[in-house]
Amino acid sequence: MFLWGTATAAYQIEGAVAEDGRGVSIWDTFSHEPGRTRDGHTGDTACDHYHRWREDVALMRDLGVNAYRFSISWPRVLPEGAGAVNAAGLGFYDRLVDALLEAGVQPVPTLFHWDLPQALQDRGGWFDRDVTGRFADYAALVAGRLADRVPLWITLNEPFVHMAYGHAMGLHAPGQALLVNALPVAHHQLLAHGLAVGALRAAGARQVAITNNCTPVWPASDSPEDLAAADAYDTLHNRLFNDPVLLGAYPDLSAYVPALDAVRDGDLEIISAPLDALGINYYNPTRIAAPDADGLPFSDAGVTGYPTTAFGWPVVPDGLRELLTGLKARYGEALPPIHITENGCSQPDVPGPDGTVDDQDRIAYLEGHIAAVRAAAEQGVDVRGYFVWSLLDNFEWAEGYHQRFGLVHVDFATGRRTPKASYAWFRDFLAKERG
Ligand code: NOJ
Repeated sequence: MFLWGTATAAYQIEGAVAEDGRGVSIWDTFSHEPGRTRDGHTGDTACDHYHRWREDVALMRDLGVNAYRFSISWPRVLPEGAGAVNAAGLGFYDRLVDALLEAGVQPVPTLFHWDLPQALQDRGGWFDRDVTGRFADYAALVAGRLADRVPLWITLNEPFVHMAYGHAMGLHAPGQALLVNALPVAHHQLLAHGLAVGALRAAGARQVAITNNCTPVWPASDSPEDLAAADAYDTLHNRLFNDPVLLGAYPDLSAYVPALDAVRDGDLEIISAPLDALGINYYNPTRIAAPDADGLPFSDAGVTGYPTTAFGWPVVPDGLRELLTGLKARYGEALPPIHITENGCSQPDVPGPDGTVDDQDRIAYLEGHIAAVRAAAEQGVDVRGYFVWSLLDNFEWAEGYHQRFGLVHVDFATGRRTPKASYAWFRDFLAKERG
């Protein structure tokens, strides 16, 4: 069964950050620091999904999706990251899973979508090798409770973005701006992933995947400098996170970053534990030129000549076909079946006088990208799922509530949900798919 779904993440929708024993995450800390997010927005309330989850499950049932990708908040389940379990936190996800199944929607949980328990950050966060073991313990705990009803598990969401935005550029929690010295964060996330694969299977998980954010990299010109910079970017963004998992080896990084001293004997065997699927999040291609003065081995030249989203991101549906066929060409038999675990766009989404949102640009975006998935499948790529980001408008990290990605509009003052035109379009599309 092809999975057609929507996707969300805990910190972006749940709110209720101090309720029922939840611990503090690095995003609570970061979003409350002055100047970190646009207009000082935080996820304190977000979509209030922690209280409105029944309504959100009903929205998915009526939409007709057969899968839902959500994330589990590590500090809601383990307030200190390890040790004492918060029964109320586990209970929340347990009830959510049952309600989804009752609505005919397969739950697809992600274990880490960037909300590290602050207690673990205080011990060094992803620079501390011990965090990898704590992550495996957390994975075992959650799967021990849910794996009887949850077939497919995702370990990490976009470890590249968590490394680059959170630890290299300081734009996301925990707000570190270490440039190329952020690299150990890649290795420890990947090691945590590999340890979690084993822990999940031991606890009864039937299928395990990781979600990587990948981008086709376009050199700004044919000059040797731009070509070398594009290769550096492709290596650091895409191959750094796909090669160890799929091939059991890091790409050659020696030209770009300090040696990866964090790697120990045996780590790559753990990291390359066989997977049942690869999750891919795709938003746009990246155009890369020779470095400027900021200390990185490339610079972003910007993709021009395409429509853009409210975020300013170029809309290039064929980039998704290019990405998928490129993965197949690079990894061949080592490439497991793919799920597009996120794809979508932010749009201005101003409600009309009756409160509805006529988001024709989002419909065109989704249509174009679904067609690109089909084109990739015709070219031999095994794609098994497609999840729209996102079900709801939500807390878009450093942009706060300023970027709306939902099929459903959320009035953040009241929590009121109003399905947009794209929701009706996707519902009709899914009805036709079912035949
Ligand atoms: C990818 C991230 O996983 C998600 O959290 C984010 O909201 C979307 N991209 C849009 O930026």
